[in-house]
Amino acid sequence: MRRASPYVTVLSLLLLGYGWMDIAARRTEDGSEDWGYVEVRPKAHMFWWLYRSPNRIDDASEPWPVVLWLQGGPGASGVGIGNFEEIGPLDTNLKPRKSTWLQKADLLFVDNPVGTGCSFVEDPKLFVKTDEEAATDLCTLLIEIFNRNESLQKSPLHIVAESYGGKFAVTLALSVLKAIEAGKLKLKLGGVALGDSWISPEDFVFSWAPLLKDVSRLDDYGVKKCDSVTEKIRQQLRSGQYTEARDSCGELEELISSSSNSVDFYNFLLDSGMDPLSTGAGELTPGVSMKRYARHLSNLKASASDARDLDSLMNGAVKKKLQIIPANFTWVEESDPVSSSLQGDFMKPRIEEVDELLAKGVNVTIYNGQLDLICATKGTEAWVKKLKWEGLKTFLSMERTPLYCGTGTVTKGFKRSYQNLHFYWILGAGHFVPVDQPCVSLDMITAITQSPAST
Ligand SMILES: *[C@@H]1O[C@H](CO)[C@@H](O)[C@H](O)[C@H]1NC(C)=O
Ligand SMILES: *[C@@H]1O[C@H](CO)[C@@H](O)[C@H](O)[C@H]1NC(C)=O
Ligand SMILES: *[C@@H]1O[C@H](CO)[C@@H](O)[C@H](O)[C@H]1NC(C)=O
Repeated sequence: MRRASPYVTVLSLLLLGYGWMDIAARRTEDGSEDWGYVEVRPKAHMFWWLYRSPNRIDDASEPWPVVLWLQGGPGASGVGIGNFEEIGPLDTNLKPRKSTWLQKADLLFVDNPVGTGCSFVEDPKLFVKTDEEAATDLCTLLIEIFNRNESLQKSPLHIVAESYGGKFAVTLALSVLKAIEAGKLKLKLGGVALGDSWISPEDFVFSWAPLLKDVSRLDDYGVKKCDSVTEKIRQQLRSGQYTEARDSCGELEELISSSSNSVDFYNFLLDSGMDPLSTGAGELTPGVSMKRYARHLSNLKASASDARDLDSLMNGAVKKKLQIIPANFTWVEESDPVSSSLQGDFMKPRIEEVDELLAKGVNVTIYNGQLDLICATKGTEAWVKKLKWEGLKTFLSMERTPLYCGTGTVTKGFKRSYQNLHFYWILGAGHFVPVDQPCVSLDMITAITQSPAST
């Protein structure tokens, strides 16, 4: 499935004129939902959608939390994917989701960086090139949303990220703290949660072949072929050739696909979906698995008989409801130009940022699905061990607590906490943890946010 060129979108918006800008925000009559555009830089428009929980309890001693969900890609739409396919109140059939995180917290979805989902730029030069630029835009958005509402400011904001979103989350948390200190942003940062997050590309890349060998999906011969590419990536990263390393990363993914008979990068127990990109010989773009990120969930759903296509939902019923999406605008799951624009940052690690947050006393939660390959637990554990945080040694020496869910007696995962670092190992989940293990994910978000609606 090919998407319409985003440049067509930019051009058509220019043709439309900016008459719509005076209706840049809307809310439902009962006040349970707000959404709108914030012009985070001239001609760069970021879309956000806030849902207020029906379970909200206003008690000063137990503040009601807000979860900001940051999707990965980079360039995948949180307003579409995270909301309708993972944690929002409605699924893609617009039926209530039993496991929605809205039971425990207010939910703020954004299409980040600009150019993603419903967000757009009027000039392709305005796409962000670094995680930091994305964080600056997000911070501007938060200033617009939080500074004008004192009641909202009492709610701690928990930044919860998936995949590439983790890199945005840690850079955003640091710029949020800076903006708060400078008196520019009125907000309480509750913490950061990094779900299957691309914090250290090098550690993930090195985990792929050994992990697949251990679970019989590669043999020694396959591992040996991969070794020469991983070594090349190591050298490229050492010499700061990040764009080249991203290309090699694509090469490695391709090699793994062919040596494993198309393992699924989001769940190593599965075969990759019937994505034409994965079978097209010789002309694969680098980082192809990251690009397939948005499509994995749609592929899984395609087998379900009543599944509704996210594309037609977003460009149909949702667009009609929201009213402020430019008529001529087409929503896409994952934006190629947003992703390409970040190619220089794609392979850069953000471990130091995690260290900075830990040193500042911010709660950092890491959660990882057992069956994920692209951001495998093996790679996550490897970068955690590189932290300079003074509590690390104690953290690593502690026993884990087993997790169950509901009335179940089956082990669903493990948790370890020491001071402000928390790690959840979620069993039976791939890359998309809330989709694969909704029950234990809901318990986890309750604990992370210390939601007053905990029972
Ligand atoms: C401010 O936020 C509170 C809590 O989410 C909400 O109840 C209220 O309607 C908001 N006020 C405005 C003017 O948006
Ligand atoms: C957008 O609107 C313009 C002007 O009305 C029109 O010429 C163009 O065909 C539209 N483009 C799309 C993709 O619908
Ligand atoms: C961090 O989370 C714990 C609960 O896990 C909570 O007791 C503590 O107050 C939080 N600390 C900060 C600084 O938010």
